[in-house]
Amino acid sequence: MAKYIVHQSGPLRGEVQISGAKNAVLPLMAAALLSEEECVIRDVPILRDVSLMKKILTSLGSEIHELGENILSVTTKDILSTEADFELVNKMRASILVMGPLLARKGRARIPLPGGCAIGARPIDLHLKGFEALGAQLTVGDDYVEAVAGPQGLIGDTLYLDFPSVGATENIMMAAVLADGVTYIENAAKEPEIVDLANFLNKMGAKIKGAGTDTIKIEGVKTLGGAKHTVVPDRIEAGTFMLAAAITRGAVHICNTLPDHLKPIIAKLRECGVRIEVGDDDLIVRGDLGPQFATDIKTLPYPGFPTDIQSPFMAYLTTVEGSSTVIETVFENRFMHVAQLGKMGASIETAGNKANVRGNAKLRGCQVMATDLRAGAALVLAGLVAEGTTEISEIYHIERGYEKFIEKFSKLGATIVRVDD
Ligand code: EPZ
Repeated sequence: MAKYIVHQSGPLRGEVQISGAKNAVLPLMAAALLSEEECVIRDVPILRDVSLMKKILTSLGSEIHELGENILSVTTKDILSTEADFELVNKMRASILVMGPLLARKGRARIPLPGGCAIGARPIDLHLKGFEALGAQLTVGDDYVEAVAGPQGLIGDTLYLDFPSVGATENIMMAAVLADGVTYIENAAKEPEIVDLANFLNKMGAKIKGAGTDTIKIEGVKTLGGAKHTVVPDRIEAGTFMLAAAITRGAVHICNTLPDHLKPIIAKLRECGVRIEVGDDDLIVRGDLGPQFATDIKTLPYPGFPTDIQSPFMAYLTTVEGSSTVIETVFENRFMHVAQLGKMGASIETAGNKANVRGNAKLRGCQVMATDLRAGAALVLAGLVAEGTTEISEIYHIERGYEKFIEKFSKLGATIVRVDD
C-alpha cells in the first residue's frame, strides 16, 4: 500500500487554489439521475470518490463523458437498474445518495446497507424515515434495504429530522422533487453543500425554497431537465490549508474559496492569534506574526464548527501555548487520530467525546496510520512540523477527498513524498 513520507518543512508560503467540494459534487452527480437530459458539472475535483460515483451512475444507466479536466457530462436517458452495486456501496457511504433519485424517477430503489466506518456506525434511519414519510414502503433485509413508492408514486408531506443529517436532507430533497404535492423537511441540515444541491435542482426545474435554513420546502414537479452547474469550493480543503499555514507559522494565500463558509474556522484561528485577511473569494492566513494560543472547540452541524476540521485543528492545537479542549458532538467515534498524534509526542487525554490537548508538544516524526480522510490530513499537518520524517500509511483515505494533495502542499514548500510499497 502507498505511503506518504512527510519531512519537517519550514513555514509554508505561497498561494493555493481550492478545488470543488467533494461533499457537494457527490450529491450533484446523484441528482443528475433525476433527468433524462444532459447535466454538465464544472469544477469537479479529481478524486477516488468521484470515480466511484461515476461507476455507480454508469451501472444504473448514466452515460458519462469528461468534457475537460474538471468538467463532467452526465446523461441518464433511462434508468437501467434500480439497484446499487454491493461492492461500490461498500467502498463509499455516499453511494446511498442514489436512493432518493432512483425512488423519485423509477419508484423503486434497492441498496446494500452501507457499512459503518472508522468514525462511527453512520446509520441511515433518517434517510429511510424521510422516504416512508413520502409514502414509500421499505423492506429491510440482512444486508440491503429496498424502498418502493406507492401506486401513485411519492406523495409530498411534512417530516422532521431528529438530527440535521446532511445526507438524509440531500436524499429526501432529491426524492421529493418529483413527488406529487409539497414536502417540508424540518430541522434540515444547513450546510453549503445542501444549498449547492438545491441550486442545481432548481436549475433543472425543481421548486425548492429554504435550503440553508432549517426548513426546506419542495414543491413536486412532473419532470426535470438538464442543467449546467459549477461545484461550490471545498470549505474543508480550505480549512485544511488554513491550518497548514497556522501550524507551520507560515503565510498562505487561499484562492477560490468562499470566506462566508469558513466563519467558525476563521473565528477560532483568530482566537489563537492567527491573523486572517478576508477577501470576496480568497483569504490570507498569517501564522508568522507572533505567538499562538490555546482555544476550545466544539463541533456542531453547520453553521457550527465543522466536524471535518476537528482532527486537523487538534493537530494544530498541540503546537500552541496552553491547553485546549475539543468536544466532538457529530460523530460518536472521531478521535481515532488521538492515538496517532500521541505516537508523535502529543499529549492528549480523552474522556468520551471530550479531548484535552496540551500545547507546546515537541512532535517527533514516526510511523503512523491514517484512520479516516480528515485524520490523515491531521497527521500530514503534524508531520510538517515534527522533527525528522513521518511515514503515513493507509493514505488512500486522504486521496479520496483531497485533489492534487501533494502537488498543492509541495507548491507551498512542504516536502511530502508518495511511495508505493
Ligand atoms: C456528510 O456525511 C459528509 N459526507 C461528512 O464528510 C461530514 O462529516 C458529515 O456530513 C457531517 O457534516 C458527505 O457529504 C459525502 P450526517 P453524512 O448524515 O451525510 C448520524 C468527510 O470527511 N445519522 O450529517 O453521512 C450519523 O451517524 C466526510 O468529508 C444518523 O443517526 O453525515 C452521524 O453521527 C466524513 N442517522 C451524524 O448523524 C442517519 O440516517 C451526522 O451524519 C444519518 C446520520
